[in-house]
Amino acid sequence: MQKIRYLLATDLDGTFVGDEAGLRELLDYYDSLPDRIGLAYVTGRHRASAMELISEERLPVPDILVTDVGTSVFAGPELVEDFEWKRHMTENWDPSAIRRIAGKIPGLRLQDLPDTRRVSFFSDGAAPAERLKEALSAEGVPHTFVFSSGRDVDILPDGGGKGEALRYVIGKFTEEDAGILVAGDSGNDLDMLMLGYPSVIVSNARPELLEAEGHDALFRATRPCAGGILEAWMHFHGDAASIKG
Ligand code: GLC
Ligand code: MG
Repeated sequence: MQKIRYLLATDLDGTFVGDEAGLRELLDYYDSLPDRIGLAYVTGRHRASAMELISEERLPVPDILVTDVGTSVFAGPELVEDFEWKRHMTENWDPSAIRRIAGKIPGLRLQDLPDTRRVSFFSDGAAPAERLKEALSAEGVPHTFVFSSGRDVDILPDGGGKGEALRYVIGKFTEEDAGILVAGDSGNDLDMLMLGYPSVIVSNARPELLEAEGHDALFRATRPCAGGILEAWMHFHGDAASIKG
């Protein structure tokens, strides 16, 4: 795959998707540019569910698709699975231990997922999620804990998450000084928004992001969803990307 010069790495639900007019405005703007803008979707959904959304919402097919909260990476025109990342995510990973520990905590409902590379739950508020986090640490189970939207709990392999997956994707698929923008709206986006790349929190973001501390290249949009991405793109790359190369 040819290395990407400009990359938008964006969450789907509530970020790229959620405001149809804003999305068309963003895509029309990208179409008007002399440089092609590479797309990476970085989602909590599993692959089939992400593909369904892409087709339902008539989204462009991305160059890279990161699914399951960063535990799976697919790339290229056929979106072929990246086996190096898969190997990294499956070594030292014991999902049964997590299910066993979670089974003792009331208020957690196991999500029905096609892949065991993450174990996710719906939590009745923050308390059961917090108890699971403590129990996993007490039992010394290596993991990454992600809590989003006051409800979704994702237990991922150690070194997993959207942030680590995106760091890997950027290292492997983009040019060294690529123009990057990372976009998100909820808790599972936090680690990728904090990598230090130009990043945007869209205005409709969940409280867990609105309260998060920033960094020098973190932009808080005034517009929701894709309109906020456009606002941030203009802020960071508005000049550079429009210079004909
Ligand atoms: C998406 C996924 C869900 C996950 C959540 C938070 O909603 O479908 O499985 O728990 O994102 O990452
Ligand atoms: Mg989202």
